[in-house]
Amino acid sequence: MCGIIGYTGHLDALHVLLNGLEQLEYRGYDSAGIALFSSGNDRFIMKKAGPVATLKDACADVDIISHCGIGHTRWATHGGVNDTNAHPHIAGKVTLIHNGIIENYHNLIERFGLRDSLVSETDTEVAARVLDYYYKGDPYEAIRRTTREITGSYAFCIMFEDIHDQIFCVRNVSPMVAAHMKDGSFVASDVTAIIPYTNRYFVIPEYQIVTLRQDGISVQDLNGNPVEPEMLEVSWNVEAAKKNGYPHYMLKEIHEQPDALRNTITPRLNDGLPDFSEDGIPDRILSSCDKIAIVACGTAMYAGMVGKALIEPIIKIPVSVNIASEFRYENPLVDEKTLVIVISQSGETIDTLAALRLSRKCGARVLSIVNVKGSTIARESNYVFYTHAGPEIAVASTKAYMVQLASLYLIGCRTAMVRGKFSESDARTFISRLMDSIPAVQSVLADKDRLKAAASVLAKAQDAFFVGRGLDYAFSLEGSLKLKEISYIHAEAYAAGELKHGTIALIEENTPVIAVATQDKIYGKTVSNIKEVKARGAFVILITKENAEVSEDISDMHFTVPVPYDQFTVFPVAVILQLLAYYTSDMKGLNVDKPRNLAKSVTVE
Ligand code: M6R
Repeated sequence: MCGIIGYTGHLDALHVLLNGLEQLEYRGYDSAGIALFSSGNDRFIMKKAGPVATLKDACADVDIISHCGIGHTRWATHGGVNDTNAHPHIAGKVTLIHNGIIENYHNLIERFGLRDSLVSETDTEVAARVLDYYYKGDPYEAIRRTTREITGSYAFCIMFEDIHDQIFCVRNVSPMVAAHMKDGSFVASDVTAIIPYTNRYFVIPEYQIVTLRQDGISVQDLNGNPVEPEMLEVSWNVEAAKKNGYPHYMLKEIHEQPDALRNTITPRLNDGLPDFSEDGIPDRILSSCDKIAIVACGTAMYAGMVGKALIEPIIKIPVSVNIASEFRYENPLVDEKTLVIVISQSGETIDTLAALRLSRKCGARVLSIVNVKGSTIARESNYVFYTHAGPEIAVASTKAYMVQLASLYLIGCRTAMVRGKFSESDARTFISRLMDSIPAVQSVLADKDRLKAAASVLAKAQDAFFVGRGLDYAFSLEGSLKLKEISYIHAEAYAAGELKHGTIALIEENTPVIAVATQDKIYGKTVSNIKEVKARGAFVILITKENAEVSEDISDMHFTVPVPYDQFTVFPVAVILQLLAYYTSDMKGLNVDKPRNLAKSVTVE
């Protein structure tokens, strides 16, 4: 949420910042702005409501030589979307950009008598004014005193008017990384903005002050003691963060799923069995727990729903799925005997992070399934299971969901082995079926154009319903989220048997119902539920296994998945649901990769 970039060095800072903001735009795209020191040491600011492209246009005629500056792309929290509320904010000698929320900004306004001096409606400007109040020529002292005043989350990037070639950074919770290479020093919300320059970086530690200079970066704690940050390396290159000929990141990422699955699964196989020794995940955490609590948000939580439906019947201990934003406020039943599995693509989602911290406080061991290396959730977990999906740029999560599922399948299989629920031969069969899901995903991708006809029906609809039972219901939840977030069609997922308890009242002539019926055990029951909506005029888009017996009168369109086993249909079904959402959004002419009101990484509560 909000993208931050800062640069000082020999390159053209304006160019570095605008390019960086384009890379970070998926973090928030309400407005964007930059601040630069010109070669004559003047402060230059440009900020605009709208996408980074609007800022770029506004900067097209800017004739300025600058080697030091900061930039921001905003996802509004306090104050509407307009030029004034866009960052950077100036207060006296301070120029500041911020990602996060200053929770006590009302108190600060009173305490520092700021009511008449504020020009924007933002909490960020309040922080800038407090910082300016404390700034008497010593940036470290001013930052120290300001951070003592502030409660909330923040990643601050600061320039002081009389220090023309340095950038100061400090953070609490909200993420920020930094890197130095021969052309200068960079700071950014995430590595996508710095990957064109270097693949070596460090995560800025919380409550430490980082100073970017042209010739290096220094880190000190709040007492002024030097700190040596831990260097990390990005394992993907700049090409991975480009569209590579696809019209949208989402479509590219959907197509990357077979590779992402392979990258996540195969390094964890040893002689055809799951083995997590390279991850440092001991069997004892899987064998000694008496319950599992999965905690996540959005798509990651829906991956957890599939995980529960898969794992609980196999290992026969309670597995719960918890919405992270609710978890911390509902006195969760978590203790030393609980294994908490936290799932997060970004590793920065604040609700998920808060749930993780609470779980650890309750004595639980936390195993996180995370895509972004070195992210806060990864660093704060007891054990990390990294998914190897590469960068996911589209706001709608696709390949991250796929590898989160694969991770849960691997963890479920290993847990079943170590708890004596799977023999070696059961586990081998399970893994070989998991591997067979990859060609099944590929075959849906190869036949994707057939889905456009179904999308053209959805594109005309105001509402859509996704129904399924058992695992199919878990898949439907994600299908419905995908459709609503990028096509703005009201979509709901229901356990098919539940429709007749109320929701069926909403079915009218031609209401689209996407019916997922891939579970043999309850196939007949699901078909009965489909007939009930069909009888009331629904337009049924049916998804079954290839070998299912389907009578013509229950659907208007029918798609199949080439997987014979109930437990593994999710992989190709997910691709069908993703593509339906993708084509629908595209047909409606919407911004597929950056849907309205959303941001990729939700770092505010
Ligand atoms: O980075 P995370 O996996 O923690 O993000 C969780 C959700 O915010 C995310 O999955 C969100 O629901 C996506 N926009 C869904 O496509």
